[in-house]
Amino acid sequence: MVTGVADLGLLEQLRREPDVEAPELVAVDATDRLLLDEAAGLLAAAGPGAVAVVDDSHGALTLGAVAAGARDVRVHQDLLVGELALARNAERTGLTGTYRSLPLGPGLADGARLVLAKAPKSLDALRELTEVVASSAAPDVTLLVGGRVKHMTHAMNDVLRLGFSDVHATLARQKSRVLVARGPRPGVASSSPRRQAHPDLGLTVCAHGAAFAGTRVDAGTRALLAVLPRMAPDARTALDLGCGTGVLATALALARPELTVLAGDQSAAAVASAVETAAANGVAERVRVVRDDAASSIPDASVDLVVCNPPFHLGAAVVTGAADRLFAAAGRVLRRGGELWCVYNNRLPHRAALRRLVGPTQVAASDRHFTVTVSTRR
Ligand SMILES: C[S@@+](CC[C@H](N)C(=O)[O-])C[C@H]1O[C@@H](n2cnc3c(N)ncnc32)[C@H](O)[C@@H]1O
Repeated sequence: MVTGVADLGLLEQLRREPDVEAPELVAVDATDRLLLDEAAGLLAAAGPGAVAVVDDSHGALTLGAVAAGARDVRVHQDLLVGELALARNAERTGLTGTYRSLPLGPGLADGARLVLAKAPKSLDALRELTEVVASSAAPDVTLLVGGRVKHMTHAMNDVLRLGFSDVHATLARQKSRVLVARGPRPGVASSSPRRQAHPDLGLTVCAHGAAFAGTRVDAGTRALLAVLPRMAPDARTALDLGCGTGVLATALALARPELTVLAGDQSAAAVASAVETAAANGVAERVRVVRDDAASSIPDASVDLVVCNPPFHLGAAVVTGAADRLFAAAGRVLRRGGELWCVYNNRLPHRAALRRLVGPTQVAASDRHFTVTVSTRR
């Protein structure tokens, strides 16, 4: 096992910012270290431009690969916060300019001989990664997918086998494991984005692999769709905050022709999906989709209506911090008197935060599982 990267002290310098920092949250985890160790020999031998990295959490894989000898590394990170953390860590370690950020597509892995990836949360996201690498990388490519043992299933091997003839797992270390895929199968093609018609909702949903809920429509999202006719009747501008596949933005544009609709998400897969969903429903001209963190590109007090089905997980722990960031963003972008319509699981204590960060908050609808609230910007 080569531990050169750790020896350089590079990994110890990395931070999570601008992502949430807390004593129990790390910038470099056991999976990053295992992936870099498994890849050490290949990294040292890879020529310039031969290494690609996917879903690097905060930069450890990309900068670790550079420290181990890789040059002109190509990187795709679904989450904007990961991209920003990588950029800051590159600056901190003097490695700015050693990598390029690219969309998840053929340009990312074209001719690559080594691809390092953090295991995505969903099998659909792994399928999309598998298809991209198998269809565009060099015939002798090695794809290493690392993750926590408790999150890895045999179904992941099966998905990798759709694109590669040789798939095996390494021994686990510190509760992490790496899947190794070699031998890209000929004729693999991209099946993303996937499309699904929902005749009951009058919508077609398009989804890239990593987008929340895929081509399904989440039950919480359905609860918001049910109250759409009651939302801010005089609104001229609406924002779908954390838009995922763009179901709410597209439904608003279809139902309310007078609305200019914005949609934002920090996930590249979500943004690409929302663009496709709007187009599939004939409202591409009326839905503007942006990739940003918590509506950071949207001016203060510029929106009349915000709809939000907030995130509820940060890592494995259920915390409200990620949702609170979006509520604060809603409070900032709403005009005085504007409305935030939000849905959340009944177990979550969001109401106090909505009152504090936006304004007076009423329950607009509820059932056994979900509460829909309307908060008026004070
Ligand atoms: C529960 S999903 C809802 C998606 C979509 N609105 C729907 O109803 O299907 C929450 C979404 O918020 C996005 N998100 C989480 N934190 C965010 C942030 N800080 N800035 C922008 N989007 C964020 C996630 O990527 C995810 O797509």
